Amino acid sequence: MKSRVVTLLLALVAYVSTSSKHSPGSLDDRKDYITSYAYNQSKLQWVQDNHMPEYYGYKQPCPNADDIAPCVCKYYADEHAMDLDCSTVESEEQLRQIFKADFPFKNFRTFNLQHNSNLKVLESYVFNNISFERIEIYYNEFEVIEDHALYSCYETATVVDFYKNRITSFPFDALSNFVHLKEFGITSNSLSTIPAYAFHGITTLEIIWIQYITQNNVGTFQNLTNLKDIAMGGNSLTIIPTNFIKTGSTRLEIIRLQSNAIISVEPGAFDIVEGMHINMTSNSLSTLDEATWGPLLVGGVVLDAANNPLSCGCDIAWLFKEDQRFGQVSKDTTCSDGENIHNLDPSIFYSC
Ligand SMILES: *[C@@H]1O[C@H](CO)[C@@H](O)[C@H](O)[C@H]1NC(C)=O
Ligand SMILES: *[C@@H]1O[C@H](CO)[C@@H](O)[C@H](O)[C@H]1NC(C)=O
Ligand SMILES: *[C@@H]1O[C@H](CO)[C@@H](O)[C@H](O)[C@H]1NC(C)=O
Ligand SMILES: *[C@@H]1O[C@H](CO)[C@@H](O)[C@H](O)[C@H]1NC(C)=O
Repeated sequence: MKSRVVTLLLALVAYVSTSSKHSPGSLDDRKDYITSYAYNQSKLQWVQDNHMPEYYGYKQPCPNADDIAPCVCKYYADEHAMDLDCSTVESEEQLRQIFKADFPFKNFRTFNLQHNSNLKVLESYVFNNISFERIEIYYNEFEVIEDHALYSCYETATVVDFYKNRITSFPFDALSNFVHLKEFGITSNSLSTIPAYAFHGITTLEIIWIQYITQNNVGTFQNLTNLKDIAMGGNSLTIIPTNFIKTGSTRLEIIRLQSNAIISVEPGAFDIVEGMHINMTSNSLSTLDEATWGPLLVGGVVLDAANNPLSCGCDIAWLFKEDQRFGQVSKDTTCSDGENIHNLDPSIFYSC
């Protein structure tokens, strides 16, 4: 994607500089060229005649500052990218009006809205026709993200993150409309459920951050074949069912389930990928049963199990058999009496 944009811009710069040296042509000709190139690349769409000629040559693709205040547009010539920061917007109405301004180019890199307490609702179609690759909406007081709020970004967004808001309503069903989404985050919000089904088949997704939204998970995570990192810490989960995270991804690096209230993990709950970590730190596991953890450790998974009330009786004797699977359990794992499991004498399990 990025290299295509660079290619496009280089091509345009080359076109513009040769054409001004040799045959200037009419501004309209150049506008047509730019428009058609942009459509071909679905990038930097030229929409506004009356910005010519200042924006011709890509010196300033941002809208007029006054038209979009208090949002601020920045163009990074060397990165061929425009960012828009709307952190000081005063109301939903104002944000909606801003996106009705004349935008010479519609495709931005980043939308930032941070540390704002004025907005509660991100309205459907708020961005009008303006698209973003990265949507970074952090530390605000949003409560409702309407169904079509991100409509203009379905084809462009690679990162969508609503870290630390007060979101109680989010259009999870719209997630499957994103065609390039790699990272989705909604950590630290107030949702009542995490609808795992909404992620099914989003095979572009690599990272999912859904921590501290303090409620139940519904369903299982399936068919996310490029997933690397799924974070579900702090969600009060108690029982992890069979097939909970069975994504089919061979790229999984970590499943984060720390700081829940997990008392049991059923066999076959997770994908098995060599070298992958499962972080079960700070949960309520009283045992590491072989039916669940045996196949994972044999498959090369590393288990982080610090701060669980492990009873360390005959139930974990299997970890100390000749294949010494305890070596794949993190060094800070302790029994409920405080003894580090790596300091246990294997001979105590001979009589089990
Ligand atoms: C855009 O694509 C059309 C059809 O493929 C082609 O005729 C046209 O030359 C392209 N425009 C540019 C600027 O590359
Ligand atoms: C958005 O873009 C589409 C297609 O380019 C166009 O049909 C539509 O009128 C535009 N809407 C606005 C509000 O500019
Ligand atoms: C997985 O998702 C892809 C992309 O949506 C889809 O084509 C495929 O049929 C799905 N496979 C399964 C087993 O659900
Ligand atoms: C597991 O989670 C704990 C608590 O957040 C953290 O300290 C630890 O570094 C994590 N381990 C890994 C491998 O990420």
